[in-house]
Amino acid sequence: MYALDLNPDIGAEGRVLFLRAQEHPALEHFRSRLTCQQTWKPRAAQLEAAAYRVEREAQGKFPLVIVLPDPQRDLAVADLARAYDHLADGGVLMAAQHNDAGAKKTEQHLKEAAGAVETLSKHHSRAFWTVKEAGKPWREDVLDTWRQRGAMRRVMEGKWWSQPGLFSWDRVDVGSALLVKHLPKDLRGHAADLGCGWGFLSAHLLRECPDIDSIDLYDADGDAFEPIRRNLGIIPTRVKTRPLWRDVTAGIETARYDVIVTNPPFHDGKTTDPTIGLRFLAAAAAGLKPNGQLWLVANRQLPYENFLGEAFEHRETLVEQNGFKVMHAKGPRVQALMKEPRGGKRRPR
Ligand SMILES: C[S@@+](CC[C@H](N)C(=O)[O-])C[C@H]1O[C@@H](n2cnc3c(N)ncnc32)[C@H](O)[C@@H]1O
Repeated sequence: MYALDLNPDIGAEGRVLFLRAQEHPALEHFRSRLTCQQTWKPRAAQLEAAAYRVEREAQGKFPLVIVLPDPQRDLAVADLARAYDHLADGGVLMAAQHNDAGAKKTEQHLKEAAGAVETLSKHHSRAFWTVKEAGKPWREDVLDTWRQRGAMRRVMEGKWWSQPGLFSWDRVDVGSALLVKHLPKDLRGHAADLGCGWGFLSAHLLRECPDIDSIDLYDADGDAFEPIRRNLGIIPTRVKTRPLWRDVTAGIETARYDVIVTNPPFHDGKTTDPTIGLRFLAAAAAGLKPNGQLWLVANRQLPYENFLGEAFEHRETLVEQNGFKVMHAKGPRVQALMKEPRGGKRRPR
């Protein structure tokens, strides 16, 4: 936004596309001309709450495309290619990235495809931009490689569909593999998979638990859903599956589920945040029916025992192995915990 401030001619008129958009007060300047693209639900929800137009996938060409490339290298170059694909002739592509996220490298990449690039370095970050001049195409061979690097594909000898950027995108997570080993086959009723990623745990439920009636798959990452559709679509089943692009920490449907499975996240973006897992467990306790059960796997050092002990009638750790623990909890007490104290005497436990 600082680079745009110093170069008022850029984006002075015409539509503006912001890829991997984040809310910022300076966006107000473009409000009526701006389309924001964002696949991470908490960020998309912030932009929507501020009444910006938000799309999971952008359409069309724009005279200005701003992009905040993902720190993951394959995604960073795929983001540049995507920005190029939305750029009108004569348009400006502007990218900005924190130095620690690899700004210099991303700038070099842009030079490789586009030629000359202008740069501004400030606040431990770089903004860099270039013009797509009519009749002067960028290096199509380079752009093509970038598109492929970020694309969805078959992985693990063709067994699963996935995409760079998703959690453990090209291998089954060791923790999730341990969890499915301990899931009983007689799980039944309505299930939810919180933070479902590309669908490994749900695929297990579909294949191994014949009494499951439905599965709601929640994830904040919009890129997870096409791989999920393909990974689950090939499993012959009567079970209804419902992919839900949601921020689980903002809550899920209450008292709906008989079974919840989860390998909760322990990162919020780049930083490790142990409270995010606890917020997943709170959402699970509220989402379960009175007899419902929660099955989860977590890194051994994550402090979930106290919360599970308070929020459920029964909890146990079934196994600890290779740095992970598989836990089971049953009978959420969350309704009791949330009850208003009566007559000012009763207090929630
Ligand atoms: C540890 S991964 C588990 C993925 C998958 N269940 C597996 O076993 O491979 C946690 C997942 O939670 C998702 N996630 C992180 N924060 C979230 C949030 N606030 N709301 C919903 N999903 C979130 C991530 O995108 C990721 O797919």
